[in-house]
Amino acid sequence: MAQAGPVSRALVSMTGVMPRWFVRWISRRYVAGAHLQDAVRVMKRLQSEGACATVDVLGEEIQSLEEATFFLEEYRRVMAAIVEHELDANLSIKPTAFGLLLDPTRGLDNIRRLVSEAADHGMFVRLDMEDHRVTDDTIRVVTTLHAEGLSNVGTVLQGRLHRTMDDIAALADVLGPLADHRICKGIYLEPASIAHTARADITEATIACVRHALDQGAYVGIATHDDRIINAAVEHLSTIGMSTVDDQRPDRPAVRNGKGPGYEFQMLLGVRGDLRRRLRADGHRTRVYVPYGEKWYEYSIRRLKENPTVATQVVKAFLMPWTNRP
Ligand code: FDA
Repeated sequence: MAQAGPVSRALVSMTGVMPRWFVRWISRRYVAGAHLQDAVRVMKRLQSEGACATVDVLGEEIQSLEEATFFLEEYRRVMAAIVEHELDANLSIKPTAFGLLLDPTRGLDNIRRLVSEAADHGMFVRLDMEDHRVTDDTIRVVTTLHAEGLSNVGTVLQGRLHRTMDDIAALADVLGPLADHRICKGIYLEPASIAHTARADITEATIACVRHALDQGAYVGIATHDDRIINAAVEHLSTIGMSTVDDQRPDRPAVRNGKGPGYEFQMLLGVRGDLRRRLRADGHRTRVYVPYGEKWYEYSIRRLKENPTVATQVVKAFLMPWTNRP
């Protein structure tokens, strides 16, 4: 894969010998904490900075369907906390943690239960996109639930995948103005047969996807810390006449399940807070992805292994803190 240089690979190969306290120390910046109250504390701080949040309960692919119950229960607690503390926040879930890979039908049932309960609170549920084994099934969950009248759900589309431009067009046909995508580069290093693998190509493809989704009238969560993509998005928003706070399009849907109109910028907790605050000061809606949970160790190591370039960014953030203020 063109992206991971020797330094990144060397850092990742060291993860096996890194002491747990060291990984904890590094991940403190990127993970709210082990418990729900840690996530609530972080969300309150973010809210005071004008950012809303999306909460991720750490944990991914499960080995037995019984494990999905833990996530369903924990996300119920998250919903209750969001309501109780009057937070401007929604949910991000990993479909495989709800059983989508083990059994697509049971996985769909589990996700349906959560999305339906979230709808009762007027809350949106984002299906994080995992690797290409579940792309089709994840998109199918969204279209199925919308067809059943649950429109408070959307997924993530990864700019690096060759298929994404077509997915955006297909989802526009099926979901119309209720289409709601998070667009990002995609963290999984996918094979060249289905994805761009060179850094510059991934960036350009992601910009094209953001433009395409906005043009198709979807609500777009522009999820990146890359200045190039952000600048291109801001330019395109201005070209299509979407102002910073209010979407000026006359035909935009009135109800957005508690979200703002048109688009928002999304970033990961602990990454480029200065850039997020600047976007907010310019009038853009911003949202931070807030992971929490006892699986912080597994999450941190897995992220590094999935994409070794993350290791370089983490080291850079510590050695040159001015490049990444939380
Ligand atoms: P890039 O990686 O080039 O980062 C740009 C700059 O940001 C870097 O140069 C560095 O300064 C800084 N930076 C980025 N990451 C950093 C870090 N960890 N520490 C310190 N500095 C860092 N992917 C996926 O496959 N499925 C999904 O569901 C999601 N969901 C998601 C939600 C949100 C809110 C975000 C922001 C991202 C995702 N992603 C994701 C991850 C995404 O696909 C991508 O891997 C990362 O955002 C990194 O790509 P950037 O566009 O930020 O560019």
